[in-house]
Amino acid sequence: MKVEFKSELKAKKGDLLITGVYEGLKEVEKEEKEKLKALSFNGKVGEVAVLPGSGAFKAFVYVGLGKKGELTQDKVRLAAAKGIKKAEALKAKSVVCELLGEDKLKEFSAKAVAEGLILGAYSFNKYKEEKVSLSKVVVAGKEEYRKSFNLGKVLAEATNFTRDIVNEPGNVITPEKLAQIAKELSKEMGFECKVFDEKKLEKNKMVGILTVGRGSSNPPRFIHIAYKPKGAKKRVVLVGKGVTFDSGGLNVKPEQYMKTMKSDKAGACAVLGIMKALGELKPKVEVHALIPTVENMPDGKAYRPDDIITYKNGVSVEVHSTDAEGRLILADALIYGSELEPDLMVDMATLTGACVVALGHYTSGLFTEDDKLAKELERISKETGEKLWRLPLDEDLEEEIKGTYSTVQNVGKSRYGGAITAALFLRKFVNKDKVRSWAHLDIAGPAFLSKPWKYYCEGATGQPVRTVVELLLG
Ligand code: BES
Ligand code: ZN
Ligand code: ZN
Repeated sequence: MKVEFKSELKAKKGDLLITGVYEGLKEVEKEEKEKLKALSFNGKVGEVAVLPGSGAFKAFVYVGLGKKGELTQDKVRLAAAKGIKKAEALKAKSVVCELLGEDKLKEFSAKAVAEGLILGAYSFNKYKEEKVSLSKVVVAGKEEYRKSFNLGKVLAEATNFTRDIVNEPGNVITPEKLAQIAKELSKEMGFECKVFDEKKLEKNKMVGILTVGRGSSNPPRFIHIAYKPKGAKKRVVLVGKGVTFDSGGLNVKPEQYMKTMKSDKAGACAVLGIMKALGELKPKVEVHALIPTVENMPDGKAYRPDDIITYKNGVSVEVHSTDAEGRLILADALIYGSELEPDLMVDMATLTGACVVALGHYTSGLFTEDDKLAKELERISKETGEKLWRLPLDEDLEEEIKGTYSTVQNVGKSRYGGAITAALFLRKFVNKDKVRSWAHLDIAGPAFLSKPWKYYCEGATGQPVRTVVELLLG
């Protein structure tokens, strides 16, 4: 789908026109208003209605923006997505979309419209025989909003790039394949890219990745991409969990929980999407992307409960469950990332089912000791619609992960507070003397959906790509 911005659109023409209207339909002409009301369309958020076309358009699609004084970026995004989904359902080939609610949100409306259209039109249809897709969308708006539109387009396309990789199954995306994708992206964007194979993993004492990866015939990898623009004043490390399939290992998952575990690489794929956006936007921040990637499988060589491993930073870990593998591979990356002495380190991972129990499928858990960073992320998240909720790094739960024979165990003694004990585990591998600020995002809920929600279809959402890019843009 080609999405274009046009400020000098003389004659609007196409199969279909998408227009946003506020609740109450005050701005709508009397005749249309009556027809819309007859269809029970009142301009509420999420509402959509179609009227037959005349003149240059075969149909008019109206999308609700809600109450006039209460518009937000996310309402615009949702309205644009509803419009484009309707256009697809009507099999339109070319669409014109007006900027929605531009008076209230100024240029942000252009960004949100671009995102809503591109995120809303997404589907993972690569393996379908029948493919119907919209070919062209023209967004009409004032020239001064073009920049904002382009930003939204980059963010949404990077998000869809992430979704595409997450949605690929485990037989297609192995750790080696993920590394190949990272290399291709780096080549295209001019980034440096290093991939550690088993020999290099041994040399760098990355015991977590080697241990978890041992049970699979698809060997593990560690990926390091570096974007180093001239004049950068800040260094950021991003870490993404890249479990290409999580069977649980010897603590094998029950059937209903194993299905969808191709999505356990969503953190890694988000990091790749963020790098893609950075390659296009080129902000003056040095960014290192670190991806530990393994397939967690049961096998004669697989690691076992009771195994003890000792990390490069001296912390020893006893394995209580081979299904708590994410934290074991992230530990290597956090130790490595600390050595880069960043101003900020952010890891993102589909880490715990406990986080989904706590917050549901639509909100990620945010853990950080940095109040300023938490506030900034919370503010951005409200705009991007990628919901976050801060959870505590509760010191009183440290006892839960204290090891019997070693420093720590990889699972809490009770199952309560599982998202927190996982975050406390990760903190053991962040070197406080070298990392100024650290945040952990548990994206287990929102990374992958079993049913459509807002502008997303079922499957991968590409969260938290847009939020993290906006954070890095400052
Ligand atoms: N990948 C899972 C977490 C997960 C669960 C992600 C649901 C997405 C949706 C992780 O590796 C895992 O299995 N965690 C265990 C930890 C437990 C053994 C302490 C869990 O959450 O049950
Ligand atoms: Zn697991
Ligand atoms: Zn996992």
